Amino acid sequence: MLILNKTAGVLKPSKRKVYGFLRSFNFHPGTLFLHKIVLGIETSCDDTAAAVVDETGNVLGEAIHSQTEVHLKTGGIIPPVAQQLHRENIQRIVQEALSASSISPSDLSAIATTIKPGLALSLGVGLSFSLQLVGQLKKPFIPIHHMEAHALTIRLTNKVEFPFLVLLISGGHCLLALVQGVSDFLLLGKSLDIAPGDMLDKVARRLSLIKHPECSTMSGGKAIEHLAKQGNRFHFDITPPLQRAKNCDFSFTGLQHLINKIIIQKEKEEGIEQGQILSSAADIAAAVQHTTACHIVKRTHRAILFCKQRDLLPQNNAVLVASGGVASNFYIRRALEILTNATQCTLLCPPPRLCTDNGIMIAWNGIERLRAGIGILHDIEDIRYEPKCPLGVDISKEVEEAAIKVPRLKMNL
Ligand code: KG4
Ligand code: ZN
Repeated sequence: MLILNKTAGVLKPSKRKVYGFLRSFNFHPGTLFLHKIVLGIETSCDDTAAAVVDETGNVLGEAIHSQTEVHLKTGGIIPPVAQQLHRENIQRIVQEALSASSISPSDLSAIATTIKPGLALSLGVGLSFSLQLVGQLKKPFIPIHHMEAHALTIRLTNKVEFPFLVLLISGGHCLLALVQGVSDFLLLGKSLDIAPGDMLDKVARRLSLIKHPECSTMSGGKAIEHLAKQGNRFHFDITPPLQRAKNCDFSFTGLQHLINKIIIQKEKEEGIEQGQILSSAADIAAAVQHTTACHIVKRTHRAILFCKQRDLLPQNNAVLVASGGVASNFYIRRALEILTNATQCTLLCPPPRLCTDNGIMIAWNGIERLRAGIGILHDIEDIRYEPKCPLGVDISKEVEEAAIKVPRLKMNL
């Protein structure tokens, strides 16, 4: 296992360990690869992931270690715990991805790693490991913006040209952006408070879904989706947030508090304590999922209308991409499909395992940047991780000033 030494405030793996790690691969000096090949490393939150991807989008090797089960038990991510788990797993995960690819590290064109945004302690592990590897292998380094990677994943799975609209909904992020190029984004709106995945995780925790036999190992959002299938959303009438704000921003804190009040009321009615499973848990899950879907659709509807009004997207067959952990929810996808059908757009979503955090999206972002010749570093002296980092040029004020009224859509789901 790779031991991390503390040097000048930066955690670095020892050289001896890195050499040992590199020697564990077979080197094929004569092998000629025609395609560019990138190793991607992701540690921004609670997944330690790595993948080797080539220029044509072939995934040559992949490995992931999810911390979900640990964090479910502690009731949320505790950053030092996440950091420790990244440290324990990063070498094995990178090694597994490289071994599965059957390439020698010397055949890599570059190493790409998430350096922003994310949890500082988690980002630090991936970055210091990567910088050691970059130094030993003498390869270029491509720093990756986690949300850019989520946005571009669709170009690995589908043939999608710029520009397209992207909706990124996850545990840590919630935004709508126009993607005009590999590193050319216009930010149309974002969450004013928490992200939808965070809200769903909190609701799932408050409902104690970890104790539910069918959901005990699922992330909060996944548990809500699973349980909602057995529930009746019409038992609760909840108005989606920000009904009057004519912008593309989101809000989920109010919804979370409202659901909390409903849960407290139901616990009284059913005569049970917090921590026991409500008989109405499935109905509550269905209601919160539906309200979340309606809110997301309304904001996205305005973004489509704004982009078409400004000729930023074509009038017909514009593409809406939905990605991030929450976009793996099929109810929300169906709601978005109602919207894209009504607006002559096409909805594209990566498969669920590429919506949640993974190493493939980071390696692919590296390939995109290599091909575009953007952000490829040969000098890694001053490279730092950035826990907070906006995506693209913020034009949300302009969107708000346009004050576009969104026509009603029937959400018959
Ligand atoms: O993209 P991701 O893996 O990590 C972040 O960058 O945040 O997203 C994780 C989030 C969690 O909040 C999780 O509850 C949510 O995505 N999630 C879901 C589903 N699967 C994961 N939310 C709703 N429905 C799902 N099926
Ligand atoms: Zn993510």
